[in-house]
Amino acid sequence: MTDTIRFVLDGNVVTLRDVDPTRTVLQYLREDRQRTGTKEGCAEGDCGACTVVVAELSADRNRLQYRAINSCIQFLPTLDGKELITVESLAADDAQLHPVQQAMVDCHGAQCGFCTPGFVMSLFAVYKTQENPSRKDIDDALAGNLCRCTGYRPIIDAAKKMYEYGSEISSEDQHWMNCSFSSATENAIEPSEMMTVELLRSLAHSQTLHVQHGNKQYFAPTSLAEFAQLVEKHPDACILAGGTDVGLWVTKQFRDLHTVLYIGNVRELHSASVNRKHLDIGAAVTLTDAMPLIIEHYPDLEELFLRFASPPIRNAGTLGGNIANASPIGDTMPVLIAIGTTIILRKGSKTREIALDDFYLDYQKTASKPGEFVERIRIPLPGKNQCVRTYKLSKRFDQDISAVCGAYALRLKDRRVDHVRVAYGGVAAIPKRAQECEKALLGKEWTEETVRAGMAALDTDYSPIGDMRASKEYRQLTTRNLLYRFWLESSGYEGETNVYNYSR
Ligand SMILES: Cc1cc2nc3c(=O)[nH]c(=O)nc-3n(C[C@H](O)[C@H](O)[C@H](O)COP(=O)(O)OP(=O)(O)OC[C@H]3O[C@@H](n4cnc5c(N)ncnc54)[C@H](O)[C@@H]3O)c2cc1C
Ligand code: FES
Ligand code: FES
Repeated sequence: MTDTIRFVLDGNVVTLRDVDPTRTVLQYLREDRQRTGTKEGCAEGDCGACTVVVAELSADRNRLQYRAINSCIQFLPTLDGKELITVESLAADDAQLHPVQQAMVDCHGAQCGFCTPGFVMSLFAVYKTQENPSRKDIDDALAGNLCRCTGYRPIIDAAKKMYEYGSEISSEDQHWMNCSFSSATENAIEPSEMMTVELLRSLAHSQTLHVQHGNKQYFAPTSLAEFAQLVEKHPDACILAGGTDVGLWVTKQFRDLHTVLYIGNVRELHSASVNRKHLDIGAAVTLTDAMPLIIEHYPDLEELFLRFASPPIRNAGTLGGNIANASPIGDTMPVLIAIGTTIILRKGSKTREIALDDFYLDYQKTASKPGEFVERIRIPLPGKNQCVRTYKLSKRFDQDISAVCGAYALRLKDRRVDHVRVAYGGVAAIPKRAQECEKALLGKEWTEETVRAGMAALDTDYSPIGDMRASKEYRQLTTRNLLYRFWLESSGYEGETNVYNYSR
């Protein structure tokens, strides 16, 4: 057990003890370190003014993996073992601007400047991870950064231009970049990065981090067995994964979380694998890492994932957190239910597997028992000729929560519906299957008449409510119309559907 949080900032190891475990990284930077470059706009992960970059050791421990996150909802102890990079870290010691900063200056990418550090850090993450981003990559990378005065064109220009300064490195750096850093990798690594790699290796440990502050405590174990023991011992504790829901309980609802159990350091829960039947994703795998695995097998889910919040949220947030949070408007659950996903729940050393469909009982009430947690998510691979789609409706395309999210899994045989599952989010207290609709479709010819019968049956499945996101009438109409859209997209074939070859 250790009580010390250790992370790297500007090449130095910072050690902290006895801090409030729900103090955010942003509060620490601005209030404790007077690093006020990082701004607070919304304090809920929406505006990107607080964006910083976190670097972690890659799986082979030879390189750094850079990811932008929202510091306003990230709790300070979660930095343990990582490097924190803020806008103040970027310029060289002789004040020479970083290529991202120089490009922003040259392209007039700032007006009032409030959003600028956040944009710079999002672009810094792109600069470090992508060599030749497309316009789509740039748009996606900036989906979580809002600017109210400059407008986005000059910032996008800067995103393209920043690579022009990439060659402005010293001859010493050039030497290092031409060298191979270790026998394990063919690629070069910059000297400053090499130092960070060494520092992060020296910080790595397998002890449980236990931070006690007044009546608040935080545990970050590194093994599954220890995590399971802690959850059993503290059944009322708050399990923390990416904190993209939990963070807001603190910053917006001012809730006191007395015991926090962080899942993010549990080694076993970071693994993901695939066998002949399913994808198996650990509860600590971030959405950024889980998405490509899922899209590889379900290519039509790409848009849903691109529209799931923003990269900083997806870099921190997990699929396990989305499922466990049990929000009726969580985006992944309708489609996961439609394709027959199951989850593994663990309590102590015992596990059980249940259908995601059976996990949600009532508004934010799940079948999880005290002392139990979501260990893994098991996603079946698509069946032959199975057609799977999901459609999200929200007020904004990017970075917005669904008003309605519909998901469909269909297989036709001899033009008839041989298998169908339909599920919606946003129209009931839980993400829920439309079983009356399914009954109306099953065994029938996949015709307009059939789909219209299914659309009518949806009114029996759901009685949506109206709220700030959408009226009751809008939800009712779009629930039906999304099914119609699915029929239009999936009915263009003689006899059988084909998940890979349809054109939009
Ligand atoms: C700006 C913003 C935009 C967002 N956009 C979207 C969106 O487009 N679509 C969408 O669906 N969601 C969205 N969200 C919500 C959130 O990002 C997701 O729900 C995310 O998947 C939560 O994962 P997490 O790891 O951050 O969970 P956390 O916040 O860490 O936890 C969420 C809940 O799950 C529990 N929990 C976490 N892991 C486990 C586990 N393994 N076992 C048991 N309980 C667990 C926690 O105790 C908590 O109750 C958004 C959030 C923000 C702040
Ligand atoms: S302050 Fe707005 S995203 Fe963090
Ligand atoms: S420059 Fe003013 S908000 Fe972006």
